[in-house]
Amino acid sequence: MEKIKEYTFKHFEKIIVVSILLGIVLITYFTPYKMGFLNFFYLPIIAAGYFLGKRMAVLTAVSCILIVAFFLLLFPSSFFTAGTNKTYIIVSLAAWSSFLILTSAAIGYLYEEKEKKIKELRSAYMGILEILSKYLESADRYTQGHSVRVAHLSEDIARTMGLSPVEVENVRAAALLHDIGKIEISLDVLHKAAALTDEEKELMDSHSEKGARIISLVGGVLKEAVPIVSAHHKYFFETEKPPSENGTEHTRKEVPLGAAIIAVADAYDAMVTDRPYRAGMQPWQAFEEVEKGTGKQFHPGAVKAFKKVLSTQHKYRK
Ligand SMILES: [Fe+2]
Repeated sequence: MEKIKEYTFKHFEKIIVVSILLGIVLITYFTPYKMGFLNFFYLPIIAAGYFLGKRMAVLTAVSCILIVAFFLLLFPSSFFTAGTNKTYIIVSLAAWSSFLILTSAAIGYLYEEKEKKIKELRSAYMGILEILSKYLESADRYTQGHSVRVAHLSEDIARTMGLSPVEVENVRAAALLHDIGKIEISLDVLHKAAALTDEEKELMDSHSEKGARIISLVGGVLKEAVPIVSAHHKYFFETEKPPSENGTEHTRKEVPLGAAIIAVADAYDAMVTDRPYRAGMQPWQAFEEVEKGTGKQFHPGAVKAFKKVLSTQHKYRK
């Protein structure tokens, strides 16, 4: 059931196009005078062009033409009714086919142009987020570049886990901003070399919520990053008491997957980076530490993907 749900979600647009096409094929099949319903075939073409691009739109148009040609061979009397001119019908069908192909190409082209513009906008806004995070970390040589490194690693983990391109982008945006809440914490606490007091620890821990509140003000494209930033220091599941009377049973509520991914990348980067009070660990030592927390602090799937990323991409082992 879960697999069907996942497949439906992944191929939702294709399913819509195929459903519309099947509906129209059925209507045409049961219609005695098929010439009158040919314009309905523009619907799957428009849907394919809008959702799937030029290639799929033209392919859908060719499929529609082949379906109509099949009906023409199977039920010629539904096209050439008594008293109609055969040449006229054939010319009409040829004109209809040409317009179908032209429409599919035009809508597909417009879709691809729109996608290109959106891609440019997205890469511009990710670039701005990257500049912002570099700027915020520029004052502290120990955290310089931390968010950008965490963002790259989180992106690779998310992609390895098979997340959709939009989800991967949300993870990357959240990773770039995961510590933005620290701008509301005093530098004395942030740079304190000695152990933090309980009050200071509480203040430090509040940076996740503070960060989530800051980016929630932006809304729009950063909306999906809010719950991820809010949970990036939580264990991969939270234990919640159900509203039962004895309160002995507990249910496990997992944190957003993006937060679980960033938690792994964040912990690894923090461990391999030098701190004022200790030198950075070796990558293999840091990996072992992360692995120890699998199933408790860290999401098993995220750690598995992280291991794969580390073993295939040398850039993280320096
Ligand atoms: Fe953090």
